[in-house]
Amino acid sequence: MTRGWKKSDWRTKPRIQMPDYTDAAALKAVEEQLSKYPPLVFAGEVRNLKRQLGEVAEGRAFLLQGGDCAESFNEFSADSIRDTFRVMLQMAVVLTYGAKCPVVKVGRMAGQFAKPRSAPTETAGGVELPSYRGDIVNDIAFTPEARIPDPNRMLQAYTQAAASLNLLRAFSQGGYADIHRVHSWTLGFTEGDEAEKYRDLANRISDALDFMTAAGINGETSHKLHTVDFYTSHEALLLEYEEALARVDSTSGLPVAGSGHMIWIGDRTRQPDGAHVEFARGVQNPVGLKCGPSISTDDLKVLIERLNPENEPGRLTLIARFGAGKVGEHLPRLIRAVEEEGAKVVWSCDPMHGNTIKSESGYKTRPFEAVLSEVREFFAIHKAEGTYPGGVHFEMTGKDVTECTGGVRAVTDEDLSDRYHTACDPRLNASQSLELAFLVSQELSRQREPKRATG
Ligand code: PEP
Ligand code: CO
Repeated sequence: MTRGWKKSDWRTKPRIQMPDYTDAAALKAVEEQLSKYPPLVFAGEVRNLKRQLGEVAEGRAFLLQGGDCAESFNEFSADSIRDTFRVMLQMAVVLTYGAKCPVVKVGRMAGQFAKPRSAPTETAGGVELPSYRGDIVNDIAFTPEARIPDPNRMLQAYTQAAASLNLLRAFSQGGYADIHRVHSWTLGFTEGDEAEKYRDLANRISDALDFMTAAGINGETSHKLHTVDFYTSHEALLLEYEEALARVDSTSGLPVAGSGHMIWIGDRTRQPDGAHVEFARGVQNPVGLKCGPSISTDDLKVLIERLNPENEPGRLTLIARFGAGKVGEHLPRLIRAVEEEGAKVVWSCDPMHGNTIKSESGYKTRPFEAVLSEVREFFAIHKAEGTYPGGVHFEMTGKDVTECTGGVRAVTDEDLSDRYHTACDPRLNASQSLELAFLVSQELSRQREPKRATG
């Protein structure tokens, strides 16, 4: 896969959506420093995730990927990490229980700092400034100084990612994620139907656990009940940061991105001959590829060959993001291209990025109904094509924000201004996320039924 590949080769390719740093000496100093720091993730973990995603590609597990659109330096706190982690645990329980299927949990966390933008500049009050590109690049404040790309921000991003991962590892392994605590993950504000449904499910799980204990079933499997595997992912957009954290895995001798377990290529930077594809093709991590309406079938075939030449299951996840009402137009042609190539991929659905609109009140939002519709369309098309809908990719938070409209506890257009905290795109709040998990669980169990009946 990586013969002759060097982690700096992307520099010879056309790059877009990356900052032009003005201070070359400062940039070099940061890159040198970062290359001496320990990697954030280790090759063995990356291989474990790839193996688990291989199970997803074969239809034996399901991928749940979610987190902030953009992590921010200001909103960084133990509470926000815990809250997002906790909602993901709840969603995973709903899916595992409902669809009787292992769930691979991957956070958009501990590295999701760089953002592609639809325009290079933003105008407000007659003033035009360079766009905000994520906290790892520049500052969101609308002043000329704030918008200058500063390479030192990479060091702060690294520090925040390291601290986030440290906490996530502690939560995953240190008792917080113990399934016996399934009740305690309920957040105070998840009232309503979906909270009720969750409590009911948690009761059933508790009963099953009590039964197992009473029957003396523990020992061997008990480690599995007390801990979870939780992985991190982000868009590998800022390639100076990615290159500086890339390492050679001492076991396999292959390069690995040390910035997160899984990386993905955005819909705007997936040019087959571009810098981002060049970087991702050389590292052995699982790689995601966002597929929006503009991806051609031919490009997809070239990208599959370039990113996964050995057709390794778990290496490549195709993340479909077309928008409600448009899945039928694009997904079938892409699925058929994948099938023609005999490519082993994970198909995941991002129902967020094709459904962003500007609300009457001026906020960027996403109608929850559109999000639900895209998920339903994704499942229906896989059913029709006879392929496996392997996962979902959400922008979500454990905080009680009002960024997407709708849901059981309906957020209205007027509510958006109440708690709109995202540094970039609107996220699902905890109760919307849980509601979605119930929908996915229902769709997934339907999809898996014939298999179980014949298997
Ligand atoms: C994102 O995931 O935040 C994003 C920018 O997605 P896409 O590349 O699909 O637009
Ligand atoms: Co986004």
